[in-house]
Amino acid sequence: MGVGIEVKNLNAWYGQTHSLVDINLNMPANHATALIGPSGCGKSTFVRCLNRMHETNPIARATGSVRMGDIDVYKDASPVEIRRRIGMVFQRPNPFPTMSIYDNVASGLKLNGFRNRRIMDEVVERSLRGSALWDEVKDDLRKKSGASLSGGQQQRLCIARALAVEPEVLLMDEPASALDPVSTSKIEDLIFNLKSQYTIVIVTHNMQQAARVAENTGFFLNGRMVEFDSTHKIFTNPSDKRTEDYITGRFG
Ligand SMILES: Nc1ncnc2c1ncn2[C@@H]1O[C@H](COP(=O)(O)OP(=O)(O)OP(=O)(O)O)[C@@H](O)[C@H]1O
Ligand SMILES: [Mg+2]
Repeated sequence: MGVGIEVKNLNAWYGQTHSLVDINLNMPANHATALIGPSGCGKSTFVRCLNRMHETNPIARATGSVRMGDIDVYKDASPVEIRRRIGMVFQRPNPFPTMSIYDNVASGLKLNGFRNRRIMDEVVERSLRGSALWDEVKDDLRKKSGASLSGGQQQRLCIARALAVEPEVLLMDEPASALDPVSTSKIEDLIFNLKSQYTIVIVTHNMQQAARVAENTGFFLNGRMVEFDSTHKIFTNPSDKRTEDYITGRFG
């Protein structure tokens, strides 16, 4: 099941650059939250703060609180545990190119010391079904490598890889922006279906996409969250002039 994420007074820096300023945001469990805003406004930094990827950059720093359910993400668990529970999918599909499809999906389990073959087979199948890739690859699990798949298939493979370790939250940073329209619509259908089991946070430059998959949307600008509301409200009747300017294409 998904859990909600609650962010309070989050600030983030790269060296002297103050990239996120006082972000407060609640992302409810089993919903999709979309984050939009012009390039460089801090969307990727924000999602990377949620699963403690931000701190893997030696010049990066963050303050404030991130809670997932009952857990304080920065205090109550290790970064490794947090990154298992809060999975991430990136803009460019990044499967392990020489590993088989099977090993790509199983990689997280193997890293966690998991060895039981029968259960591993089950998890691989369930994850590939969960990412709507199973039917296309089930006969080639060990024959084909991650790199041999199409871009859209690679992205669904990466989603399967993320699902295999049973996360509660999935962060998706522009997961479809490198994909063709058919693959994009598959990913969108998938996000829509994954909500029943996971909490989704999706960064997107595509406003139609936000409208299709997300109940709520946050608009970021210059490191601040200008407005957060139901997606419908943000796109039809935003409260802030800057949001309106952005969604009507006046800047960004
Ligand atoms: N690794 C980094 N080192 C230094 N500064 C960074 C780094 N990554 C991001 N920044 C800075 O932090 C700010 C926010 O960047 P971020 O990547 O979060 O924006 P974004 O909204 O995801 O943009 P885009 O839509 O282009 O992906 C920018 O000013 C950027 O220059
Ligand atoms: Mg980004």
